[in-house]
Amino acid sequence: MIGCAIAFELAGRGRSVTVIERDQPGRAATWAAAGMLSPLGETPPDSTFAALAAASLNAYPGFLTDLTRDAASGVEFNAPGKLEVAFDEAEAAHLRSICQANRLSFMPASAARALEAELSDDIVGAAHFPADALVDPRALGYALWKACLKREVVFRAGVSARAVLRDGNVVTGVATDSDVAKASVVVIAAGAWSADIEALPVKLPVVPVRGQMLALQCATLPFQRLLQSRRCYLIPRADGRVLVGATMERVGFDSSTTAAGIQGLLAAAIQLVPALANAALAEYWTGFRPGTLDDLPILGADSEVSGLYYATGHYRNGILLAPITGRIIADLIEQHVPPFPLHEFSVERFR
Ligand code: GLY
Repeated sequence: MIGCAIAFELAGRGRSVTVIERDQPGRAATWAAAGMLSPLGETPPDSTFAALAAASLNAYPGFLTDLTRDAASGVEFNAPGKLEVAFDEAEAAHLRSICQANRLSFMPASAARALEAELSDDIVGAAHFPADALVDPRALGYALWKACLKREVVFRAGVSARAVLRDGNVVTGVATDSDVAKASVVVIAAGAWSADIEALPVKLPVVPVRGQMLALQCATLPFQRLLQSRRCYLIPRADGRVLVGATMERVGFDSSTTAAGIQGLLAAAIQLVPALANAALAEYWTGFRPGTLDDLPILGADSEVSGLYYATGHYRNGILLAPITGRIIADLIEQHVPPFPLHEFSVERFR
């Protein structure tokens, strides 16, 4: 998603772009993602990360208009807002402080259930995030691939990038597992696999963080908004599916879906919306988030190697941050000042 968003933006600005993709475009973390676009919450509201996330959410409608026109294929997008619920006073205190910091309302249980009648009787209250949105990442990944092709981006699918090629401190291309791709600019956007790329000036501390997910099929959706508790989040989809996410596990690239993982998600989903006990279990899967040591992405130019850029480590926010990442990296490559200060996200913090 991140690599394709950058390619789409650069190709739109007239650049010639090749994407080296170890899988198929739109698979891996993009295909596994839930598509919850929820910029507020865990980060301080005055942080650069919060500004970046809010700007990317605002950019989404325009981004989708551009790419669905070029792709000639639609992408489900909807902004129903999110209710994040508390089941006890400690959780309520945590959510109240988030609401206060972000000038949002914390609702008593009765008000939350007036919005979503199927919420559990056991909740004690809920934070309301009215601007939160959802997108279908699988449709998005496909549409972005097609839109990139329309803009004449070249894809080398099923090919792994192995090493950045350099002439001293100037980038000259990428060595893949089958050949060499020459380029004057290289962007590392390899998600959870970024640490495997050799000959970088810094070994990237990006690790896979496994997320197990599942989908329930409902005859009628029991709620309209995104719902979240401390144990899970629920995404309602137009086709009647409810996505339930997600585990957070540092187990390397083990793509198993485990009994305990699925049991935990099902229990959490039914705790939040008891009516889901009657839904059909439709699908379950895993994906790998690209985690970093401080949970922040790595964005920007390398300070030593000319032509080398980073756009990785988006952790839990790759789908949300894709539109703004595409713009920022394209701006940097074109020597324009990006719309945000990027020093917090610099690879220098790991040098
Ligand atoms: N963005 C949701 C997750 O990482 O599970």
